[in-house]
Amino acid sequence: MKRQRRAVYPGTFDPITNGHLDIIRRASAVFDRVTVAVISNPAKKALLSLPERMALIRRATQGLRGVEVASFSGLLVEFLRTVHGDVIIRGLRAISDFEYEFQMALMNRRLNRHAETVFMMPDERYTYLSSSLVKEVVRFGGQVRGLVPPPVERVLKAKFPKF
Ligand code: COA
Repeated sequence: MKRQRRAVYPGTFDPITNGHLDIIRRASAVFDRVTVAVISNPAKKALLSLPERMALIRRATQGLRGVEVASFSGLLVEFLRTVHGDVIIRGLRAISDFEYEFQMALMNRRLNRHAETVFMMPDERYTYLSSSLVKEVVRFGGQVRGLVPPPVERVLKAKFPKF
């Protein structure tokens, strides 16, 4: 039987946006299984708890073939090993993402020589999107419809009840 190819798409997802979702869809069209790996102890302080971030990703990816959601802490390459992942997926939104991503890809490969990183470009509608921007817009009463899945919009509005 042909071995299944598993991709791991890591991030903070605080919260998941339609840009992340676009990458997950593209990855699921190329790989047999895609594990969305949510970091449990992000370097930046998260607004949403780990269970909240995971539940929103689960809802958003319902119905996508071969996609599952997991959490990890510590080194990404260790998680990749644990789930027998073949590649790390990263999204490249703009040239400005490249330098950091290049560093991470090479460090990950140094830590685990089997850890290959595959870069995917999201739809150009989402190239300016980030989780922080979305949170800021909602905090000050702006509209994020079309940029995040509807349940994410509802959760964010509940976190910033002033508007
Ligand atoms: N659409 C919209 N936004 C996107 C996006 C896309 N396709 N791709 C990235 N982003 C945004 C994210 O929302 C995030 O926005 P924010 O900074 O406002 O929160 C930003 O771009 C970068 O996020 P992301 O790509 O998810 O990276 P991250 O910083 O959240 O996660 C880890 C980085 C978790 C993958 C990395 O720190 C890691 O691997 N940590 C584990 C420890 C480790 O192994 N370290 C050694 C690595 S060499």
